[in-house]
Amino acid sequence: MAQPRLPQTAAIMALAAAFCCCSGSTGFDFHEATVDAIQLGFKNGSLTSTALVRFYQDQITRLNPLLHAVIEVNPDALAQAARADDERLSGSSRGRVRPLHGVPVLLKDNIATHDRLNTTAGSLALLGSVVRRDAGVAARLRAAGAVILGKANPSEWSNFRPVNSGWSARGGQTLVSITATTQCSLLLLSYSSMV
Ligand SMILES: *[C@@H]1O[C@H](CO)[C@@H](O)[C@H](O)[C@H]1NC(C)=O
Ligand SMILES: *[C@@H]1O[C@H](CO)[C@@H](O)[C@H](O)[C@H]1NC(C)=O
Repeated sequence: MAQPRLPQTAAIMALAAAFCCCSGSTGFDFHEATVDAIQLGFKNGSLTSTALVRFYQDQITRLNPLLHAVIEVNPDALAQAARADDERLSGSSRGRVRPLHGVPVLLKDNIATHDRLNTTAGSLALLGSVVRRDAGVAARLRAAGAVILGKANPSEWSNFRPVNSGWSARGGQTLVSITATTQCSLLLLSYSSMV
């Protein structure tokens, strides 16, 4: 992968340090939170899915103009999170505790989702097209309870169009999806959806 130029790297790391090491008002430490920690937070009441989605949306608003890691946010993510919270509170999800219940994930933009998100492989050519169904992985993530937070910016057409790694016409150049020194839950989610 192409390395961003040094000043950019420094700026990204400063931003990451400023925005990634935060706790929510509930005291939950979002920084590098694992799915297990998130689930524990849901269970012991220190975290809600809504708070987590708001946190990530805020991170995207702040960092994405620089990082271009996210190509689109899901307008229904907060509603999905609120539903997950309600199910948890009302106990209606009891008996089938789903491994990703209320956990936000980003999907790469070439993974089809049958919802209000576009699926374009980063290309302007597919903008506004409607997929027939969720891709298998998207359907399984939903079945496991995940909240689809949005789409991550890919290398356009998965590099079938020879482009810089992480560049797409729609999303621009992703500067950093993750490096060993940039540790941020938002970016980790973005990265884990790409591998
Ligand atoms: C609640 O869960 C959070 C997140 O995993 C954890 O940091 C905290 O220690 C837990 N609190 C209690 C009282 O178990
Ligand atoms: C999907 O693309 C259309 C343009 O065709 C745009 O108006 C819409 O906002 C996009 N959806 C999202 C969730 O960004």
